[in-house]
Amino acid sequence: MASSLPSLPHVPGTDASSCILDAFRIAIAKRVSDALPPLTLDQAYVGVDYGKKGVDFTVALPRFRLPGKPDKLAAKVVSSFQPDDFVASITHDKQFLHFQLNNANLIREVLNQIHTLTYDNPTGKPSYGTNTSGAGKKVVIEFSSPNIAKSFHVGHLRSTIIGAFLVNLYKACGWDVTSLNYLGDWGTQFGMIAVGFEKYGSQEELQKDAIKHLYDVYVKVSRDAESDPNVKVEAAQFFKRMEDGDESALVNWRVWRELSVKKYIEEYDRLNVSFDRYTGESEVGKEWQDKALEQLDRLGLITDANGAKLVDLEKWKMGKAVLRKADGTSIYLTRDIAGAIERYERYQFDKMIYVVASQQDLHLSQFFKILHLMGFPWANRLEHVNYGLVLGMSTRKGTAVFLDQIIKEASSVMHEQMRRNEDKYNAIEDPEMVSQEVGITGIKIQDMAAKRINNYTFNWDRMLSFEGDTGPYLQYAHVRLTSMERKNPELLPLPPPSQIDTSSLAESTHARDIAILLGSYPDVVKTAMKTQEPSGVVTFAFRLSHAISSAWETLVVKGEKDLDKARARLWLYICARDVLGAAMRLLSIRPLERM
Ligand code: ARG
Repeated sequence: MASSLPSLPHVPGTDASSCILDAFRIAIAKRVSDALPPLTLDQAYVGVDYGKKGVDFTVALPRFRLPGKPDKLAAKVVSSFQPDDFVASITHDKQFLHFQLNNANLIREVLNQIHTLTYDNPTGKPSYGTNTSGAGKKVVIEFSSPNIAKSFHVGHLRSTIIGAFLVNLYKACGWDVTSLNYLGDWGTQFGMIAVGFEKYGSQEELQKDAIKHLYDVYVKVSRDAESDPNVKVEAAQFFKRMEDGDESALVNWRVWRELSVKKYIEEYDRLNVSFDRYTGESEVGKEWQDKALEQLDRLGLITDANGAKLVDLEKWKMGKAVLRKADGTSIYLTRDIAGAIERYERYQFDKMIYVVASQQDLHLSQFFKILHLMGFPWANRLEHVNYGLVLGMSTRKGTAVFLDQIIKEASSVMHEQMRRNEDKYNAIEDPEMVSQEVGITGIKIQDMAAKRINNYTFNWDRMLSFEGDTGPYLQYAHVRLTSMERKNPELLPLPPPSQIDTSSLAESTHARDIAILLGSYPDVVKTAMKTQEPSGVVTFAFRLSHAISSAWETLVVKGEKDLDKARARLWLYICARDVLGAAMRLLSIRPLERM
């Protein structure tokens, strides 16, 4: 991207062509390092942080560990200061140096960059906020992974939401991503269902809603099993036949799985989520499960308990765990071990992420450890992205057990909410679609607003309100920004920001606040990559929305007689819309254009 700013020395790890704030930071670092030898430019650069409360950037001098008092050091930088194209002023406060940028240049460069990377870039895809740090690297991300015939609980929903975000995030950072849904489609429960299906199954119900019907059958047969121990014995025998590959025991199971997956695909689609591959516990082969057992036995880690095989991980404070049942059938843990090996053989990943609730921390650390012990050099490429509990998730009719109940409830609560404002409601073209989309946004935002590891309480009213930092508020902010072009047709077609005079915006602190936020978006993406947390992106989206909502009254477009001014402001809003939209899409949210 052609910038009209003077050229600067390069600092490793920066790229002003995708993040213009890098240039401003280098300019600041250069002043600091020039004034404070032997400090190098690269060392100074690391010390340039975002400022607080209206300060653009701040440098904390003590971190450089230079000889001399901070006051003296600061005086050196301050006394050599001359305003230039990048930096307008400097102030000194105790051990801190605060820098204000040249607003006119900041705003112009930020708008140009967003415009170029959104509408005018060679890939044809909007790329503002993306980077190439993961180029040439492969990541496998496993998430959601519900269990067929059991409930899709909020834990699975969290995994779905966080996993979808990670897929988008890794793609935005240039990684080659493969997303997997590892279904709980194997295990004794399928023996139970097979037994139960003879008594309670209905082909018709199955075709109508496989997920629900299989769950119902499972609930009923589990109840039978409480009074009749034979049920469990039969179920175990049936599952053994499945494990032995007995075709007659597998026909029904195959249909159940297929119908369930079909239904899942539809529901995930409503959440704007998809998978490259639906795999599952059933697909894990025997070979590596046997080998794992042999190898661990050789290491002296296997003990026999009445025919069952246990691995002893006490040495690493990970307890003991069953690897194989006495009847020889496989188990969750063993399948995960073998599954990881097969995935490595297939994908040769540089990283594999499991998005699974923190309740399974021990399970994940056990099988990661076992893979280390087996000597796989790639075992340290596995990563567990965990998250806390969701409390109190229920619908008005009771506990939610299926994903579609959760989606329906969100849509209907939202629908009622919208109806309360009749005028607005009547203006909505497709209230069903809008309420579903806004409802889903509410759920997602509530889920990603805090650090993953925190537990939170599910609260329909709070998450679906238009007030406060909620999903509906974000959608509303995006819709309002989107309406700006529609409402100002006389300014269209708009010449690119590089061809209009944006300097009028520099007089407005609102415009400056928005510009620096917009400029920080590429950093927000990089930070999310470091922390594997969506919360920073959510916070960013709200800060941007708040900055915009305080600008509406002073940065007016409609009725502004000075056309240059009006156009510059319109560009600011368009860029804000594009960046807010990009942040929402990164969070797997579909930004609405009207509501
Ligand atoms: N199906 C499992 C459950 O619902 C989650 C699977 C997590 N992934 C894994 N590779 N173990 O608890």
